[in-house]
Amino acid sequence: MSGVFPATSMPDRDWWRTLWPDPVAVLRLLGIKPGMTVLDLCCGDGTFTGPLAHLVDGKVFGIDLDPAMIAQAQEEVARWNSSVRGWFCADAMEAAKLLPDPVDCVLLANTFHGVPGC
Ligand SMILES: C[S@@+](CC[C@H](N)C(=O)[O-])C[C@H]1O[C@@H](n2cnc3c(N)ncnc32)[C@H](O)[C@@H]1O
Repeated sequence: MSGVFPATSMPDRDWWRTLWPDPVAVLRLLGIKPGMTVLDLCCGDGTFTGPLAHLVDGKVFGIDLDPAMIAQAQEEVARWNSSVRGWFCADAMEAAKLLPDPVDCVLLANTFHGVPGC
């Protein structure tokens, strides 16, 4: 549970999977469709990045501040037999500078809570 600061890292994996049992359904409800390019901003352990990469055939960028989260998200994408266009271990504030191309959608899920000073 420890991370770069208290708001990084993920909650207990079993609890997270109980809370989000069907990430693909969530992504579809959000209007994400094959053909779109999507940024998973603050991707965490890849709970959404894996299904997302599968849904849009790898047209995904993932950003997270915590290198341990990026590593877990990479494993999750591999578990979905998929790939992404790029990973960035960086502050979300840098997203516009980092992305090589515009995206159709930015997914920002369950993030920016408990940030010191907010
Ligand atoms: C609770 S997790 C949610 C992960 C994922 N979006 C999900 O819904 O499963 C929040 C993630 O946001 C990342 N994060 C927090 N502040 C960030 C920032 N300023 N820039 C990039 N990532 C950040 C944390 O490292 C953590 O992995």
